[in-house]
Amino acid sequence: MEERGCSREEVISFLSGVRAEDVHHDHILSSMCTIPHPIAIAVQEMFSATNLGDPGLFPGTMKVEDLLIRSLGDLMHLRSAGGYATAGGTESNLQAIRIAKKQREDVKRPNIVVPASAHFSFDKTCDMLGLEMRVVPYGRNYMVDTERMAEMVDANTIAVAAVAGTTEYGMVDDVPTIAKIAKEHDCFCHVDAAFGGLVIPFLERPVPFDFAVEGVDSISLDPHKMGLSTIPCGCLLLREQEMLGCLNVDTPYLTVKKQCTLAGTRPGADVAGAYAVIRHLGREGFRSMVAGCMENTRRLVAGMEACGFSRVVDPVMNVAAFSAGDVPAGWKVSHTRDNHLRFVLMPHVTRDVVERFLADVADGQDEILKRE
Ligand SMILES: Cc1ncc(COP(=O)(O)O)c(C=O)c1O
Repeated sequence: MEERGCSREEVISFLSGVRAEDVHHDHILSSMCTIPHPIAIAVQEMFSATNLGDPGLFPGTMKVEDLLIRSLGDLMHLRSAGGYATAGGTESNLQAIRIAKKQREDVKRPNIVVPASAHFSFDKTCDMLGLEMRVVPYGRNYMVDTERMAEMVDANTIAVAAVAGTTEYGMVDDVPTIAKIAKEHDCFCHVDAAFGGLVIPFLERPVPFDFAVEGVDSISLDPHKMGLSTIPCGCLLLREQEMLGCLNVDTPYLTVKKQCTLAGTRPGADVAGAYAVIRHLGREGFRSMVAGCMENTRRLVAGMEACGFSRVVDPVMNVAAFSAGDVPAGWKVSHTRDNHLRFVLMPHVTRDVVERFLADVADGQDEILKRE
């Protein structure tokens, strides 16, 4: 830190310079985050000094968090769902499994059973909580093999997880069967819908994955992905608010006496932004946004196949994967653990962006053919 500060202009000029080094969103084809909705940005400043970690000081902001949880609970078919706003899917997954572990303190060598598609936040969770992680292989279509899952659950299993909108392929596990397995073994059932939670309900043919499925105890759902909020904003939703009680610690010097959240200080600004987007767009707005993303996904698949790439799965949501290959320089795509090319068609990946990308891919193909 320098002894003397410098002018506002100098600081802003420096920061805009480094910000310009970041990849522009119109070339980012593999992120699960996107450009926030203008209304989320607009409320940022209004709530920038709020701290949900000390809600007695910010009862208004706390009300907004409750409204966000209630709106998402309603979307997940359980108006009475509890929960709180987290820093994202990682925290939501960790906290859900913490609850599961607290509920089974009798188990001395606990394990959790997760699909092969599970996000790496489960590795962190198991490391922190001292759990064995049993990874169930894929069955068909990069969905978890539920027969193998049933075989891998035993008396030491404290939780099973399903993924609704897998990070790599956008697939939705068979949640009803997984919830049944959990019920049969008397263990906790967590659904990681960090990405899919704000996509699946708005598809033409939504599949069951939420609290409408008997036995689902908790859901991770991230507004900072398809909810167009600013980062960070995730939500952990619980079938009953009381389930959070086991995470409480005493907070002697705050305006509330107990705290169940992982972080102490928590941003009200991103939570207010997330609520603003949901309130502003409504189901109608989300349906239309998801329809646009799905249309662009279908266009990308058709265009890539015309250029000789083959799809790995039929996209269920706005994630597409193709046989390995290179993409033209400048475009940011990623690779799955099986080395497939992976795309996430977020709202910033507009039809125009898709067409420009496909044109570049086609030009690249021409070059390769000419060289041959
Ligand atoms: C299915 C799923 N779960 C959890 C996460 C982790 O979310 P975050 O990066 O917000 O912690 C991701 C991130 O992409 C995800 O796709």
